[in-house]
Amino acid sequence: MSAINQSGWRPEMGPAEMGQAGHDAGATFTGNRALMLEEPLLFEIGRPDASGVDLPETVLMENRLGGMMRAAQVDLPGLSEPETVRHYTRLSRQNYAIDLGLFPLGSCTMKHNPRLNEKMARLPGFADIHPLQPVQSVQGALGLIHELAEWLKTLTGMAAVAMSPKAGAHGELCGLLAIRAAHDAAGSDRSVILVPESAHGTNPATAAFCGYKVENIPATAEGRVDLAALVSRLGPDVAGVMITNPNTCGLFERDMKKISDAVHAAGGYVYCDGANFNAIVGRVRPGDLGIDAMHINLHKTFSTPHGGGGPGSGPVVLSAALAPYAPLPFVERHGDRYELVEEETAGEHHAGTFGRMVAFHGQMGMFTRALTYILSHGADGLRQVAEDAVLNANYLLRSLDDVLVAPFGATGPCMHEALFSDDNFAEGFSTLDLAKGLIDEGYHPMTVYFPLVVHGAMLMEPTETESKAALDQFIGAIRSLAVRAKAGDPLLKSAPHFAPRRRLDETQAARKPVLIWQPPLVAEAAE
Ligand SMILES: Cc1ncc(COP(=O)(O)O)c(C=O)c1O
Repeated sequence: MSAINQSGWRPEMGPAEMGQAGHDAGATFTGNRALMLEEPLLFEIGRPDASGVDLPETVLMENRLGGMMRAAQVDLPGLSEPETVRHYTRLSRQNYAIDLGLFPLGSCTMKHNPRLNEKMARLPGFADIHPLQPVQSVQGALGLIHELAEWLKTLTGMAAVAMSPKAGAHGELCGLLAIRAAHDAAGSDRSVILVPESAHGTNPATAAFCGYKVENIPATAEGRVDLAALVSRLGPDVAGVMITNPNTCGLFERDMKKISDAVHAAGGYVYCDGANFNAIVGRVRPGDLGIDAMHINLHKTFSTPHGGGGPGSGPVVLSAALAPYAPLPFVERHGDRYELVEEETAGEHHAGTFGRMVAFHGQMGMFTRALTYILSHGADGLRQVAEDAVLNANYLLRSLDDVLVAPFGATGPCMHEALFSDDNFAEGFSTLDLAKGLIDEGYHPMTVYFPLVVHGAMLMEPTETESKAALDQFIGAIRSLAVRAKAGDPLLKSAPHFAPRRRLDETQAARKPVLIWQPPLVAEAAE
């Protein structure tokens, strides 16, 4: 939606009409409110003949392109350079970012990205290289990938790591393909993956994508995997389990080792969703818990920008049992040289590889940022990261559990995120109302209605990078909203009031998404 829609302005209007349009809509003439500037779509403000550069006469182009020259306009909007800069700057100011304030999105670990990471990632030796360069010309970059891989293996206590997966869910795919390759090599056609209710939603989706049948394992009243139910379901058709630990209720799966032992005894493999590694890094080594494969979201645990702010990276650590099936390529160290192990150069050790997941070695920018973060913290610093993340989440939990219902709060502390339900809200009020009210308080909403095991779930993850003052301010905002939700304040029901847009019709947005922009006249005709 744009200023055109909100203020009633249309391109063909004269000055008198324009004033009236703004007045009728109860908005300013421009649609702007002080520093909150409206911004139409590129298609509404761009002109086909405008450009940020002065191009030479087309005669030259005709000579160069011969008969390939475009005959008609492609109808793309053009803008001058200042118009372009303003367009994107204005849009960026309508958005929320970790650089603006606490970003409580549970399960997403929206923590501060140290500027040192950015400085390192911009060094030309890392930023300006190409994956097809000869390996002798990128020895430093390959050395960095190798060193990061060694850190990830040490921190997790695992035998190998596949660096190329591009995000957490992609890492899950990598782990499950390795599990399937291992079963194939053993001549086994096991077809079921068990996924507990407390697992992240990407886990069952990945298993189904790999062609497995997904079976649900219930959670206990404490929000953890029901060990007895899981063990009783194991059998010769079960290829493995996928368990998120810490799980999506923000709790550590204490029975993890028992689960791994039981799954291995039944001939299966254990996949752990390690996207929440932030909460245990330096404290727990997943390898000691019998895990066979686990992805690590570098973009969460090791502070590389994400959430629309940058590409992800999801390396997968593997046990000795799964290491032979890992995807290529691999960076290997031979004396003081680094080599890339590809299909042609893979030896015995990689004979079982399931192939390739992506064209090249992985996300160089994310690798550089993650290693910078690791080296600047050191092993002790990383342990402190986990401890502070858990401390901050427990501070939230205990500061709010008298105004919000904390379903698992009575059974002990949480890990890195605090979970609440909307059970004590007034009739007709729900999690969505509190989340929208939070926007008016200047925060991005917490994760809502997830995990599914809790009614009206509100999952808040403060991360370790927030100060006590920042936490206290956030707690104050949530407390006041909780009081309003319990009292049934009608103004909360219509929040947000101060955001660039009011409450959207989420059902319409999901059922009838408008994905293609059309000129207003065409759109009107289509209605
Ligand atoms: C527990 C968990 N698993 C998996 C994922 C998926 O990771 P990605 O979004 O990088 O694919 C996430 C996302 O944050 C997550 O929190």
